Amino acid sequence: MIEWEEKYSIGISIIDEEHKELIRIMNAAIVAKQHNSNIEDISKLLKELTVYALNHFSTEESYMVEFNYPEFQYHKEEHHDFSSKTITYCSRVIEGDYHIASEILEYLKQWLVNHIQITDKKYVECFKKNGLK
Ligand code: FEO
Repeated sequence: MIEWEEKYSIGISIIDEEHKELIRIMNAAIVAKQHNSNIEDISKLLKELTVYALNHFSTEESYMVEFNYPEFQYHKEEHHDFSSKTITYCSRVIEGDYHIASEILEYLKQWLVNHIQITDKKYVECFKKNGLK
């Protein structure tokens, strides 16, 4: 589980709300796996996480383009890396590879907290300078 903590806040409300929702879905998937839920429930949550993450990445990338953020390309590549891994993992779980679910969830959890705290925080100054708060 990931408990929301102040260290995850980047101080821009629309982004913080989306990160909270990502963490909520991630936690639901972790709890489902811990309770040995069936494969349909876990794959449903992984799909929800993938779709929500894609929408969230789109939110950030739109602002990056609008604000001419200099590290846009690098940031976009990190998003792409996450999305492609998530989609691959989801497919494997849907195909019945139930045991990989723990590995997936650990990977996604680590990726998310690192990305928020390191990569996302880098655009904060640029976004705030352009009026987001
Ligand atoms: Fe909040 Fe770059 O993902």
